[in-house]
Amino acid sequence: MHSFHYQDGTLHCEGIDLRALAEEHGTPLYVYSQATILDHFRRLDTAIAELDHLICYATKANSNLAVLNLLAKEGAGFDIVSGGELQRVLRAGGEAGKCTFAGVGKTRAEIELALREGIYCFNAESEAEVAFIDQVAGELGVKAPVALRVNPNVDAKTHKYISTGKSENKFGIDFAIIREAYARAAALPNITLRGLQMHIGSQLTSSDPFVEAVEKVAPLVAELKEAYGIEFFSIGGGIGIVYEDSLASGDSTWWSAREDGEKPLTIEEYAARLVPLLKPLGLRILLEPGRYMVGNAGAMITRILYEKRGSAKTFKIVDAGMNDLIRPALYQGHHDIAPLRAPADGAETETVDVVGPVCESGDFFAQNRELPATAEGDCIAVLSAGAYGFVMASNYNSRPFPAEILVDGQTAHVIRKRQSFDDLVAGEVIPG
Ligand code: LLP
Repeated sequence: MHSFHYQDGTLHCEGIDLRALAEEHGTPLYVYSQATILDHFRRLDTAIAELDHLICYATKANSNLAVLNLLAKEGAGFDIVSGGELQRVLRAGGEAGKCTFAGVGKTRAEIELALREGIYCFNAESEAEVAFIDQVAGELGVKAPVALRVNPNVDAKTHKYISTGKSENKFGIDFAIIREAYARAAALPNITLRGLQMHIGSQLTSSDPFVEAVEKVAPLVAELKEAYGIEFFSIGGGIGIVYEDSLASGDSTWWSAREDGEKPLTIEEYAARLVPLLKPLGLRILLEPGRYMVGNAGAMITRILYEKRGSAKTFKIVDAGMNDLIRPALYQGHHDIAPLRAPADGAETETVDVVGPVCESGDFFAQNRELPATAEGDCIAVLSAGAYGFVMASNYNSRPFPAEILVDGQTAHVIRKRQSFDDLVAGEVIPG
């Protein structure tokens, strides 16, 4: 489901006119649709209903307290990667007992916090980490629930920065030595082996790599269940979303026509292919979707400040920068751009670069993109920005964080105020 659509000549998110919203709250502005987030959670939950399962939302994709609260109320668990994320989940009303703690570099303070709060499981990424968790648990006089993350050496066929399941990636424990790693972990006094985890990458646009990875790892899972009584298998996140023609398709679980003519991936297809492989294991299945849950639920609204026509290009200079949304700069990520004022049928188009004010050539949202003609002062929406958008923002160039809005029908809730200059420099000290 996709909640951004034109109505009465302007782009709306659910029942909210985004032009009016931009006037009221200023730009750049992140806007999220509550209905889309809930729809995606419920669709996935329904698609895998046959399995004993827990959806652990990957908090890193969008960790605003209001978003976490929404999912906590739906019964979601959370995949966290830091002590900060655990504290956010708890502040938002989530349960520690439904949290899995991932990441290759957990610190003592984070491990202690997680043990004290009683998380469901640590997903450990190296034997050194398991040994350290054992030591810290021993010092606290508790047993630490641990799953090892296996690196299945499967090619996720996604961008190299978000591919994690190959042997050359830093993630997980090599498939070749995972059995020995379990045997050694089982011998540690303060560890309870609770599961096995894997995650092969993000923004996967086909179910094939998921199937390949599950087929490869399922026999191992069965062995570990037998040997150590593990109770869960987490297949990670990675379900990709539509970044192109997302507005036109109106349904974010369908891919726009793929060049290779292959059938597009839907959440239903993902489930239909994986459930039969997972069900016979007789274990609890964990999923860690981030992008799927919130990606298409969000847009970043920005205003065109200036137009600059050069001999080679026309630039639309907008008031959002790479510090606000870094995906195009970092991953060559494509985001569709839609003017807030609906273009008339047969309206003029122009080929432009949409760029920000930051002093870097990588500061762009689109290059050589054919867009409906816009004027200075108009606002545009950078679509599919709900995941890995705001959470990756920085204060580079001393630019304050944008505000965030959660739309629920006809109501727009400010879920984060725009950062003030005083907030931006809070904590800085001039000596003397
Ligand atoms: N589980 C683990 C262990 C992960 O590392 C990740 C994402 C997820 C789950 C959630 O993956 P998702 O369902 O969102 O694909 N900033 C990048 C994406 C980085 C993903 C990192 N790990 C981007 O903007 O494309």
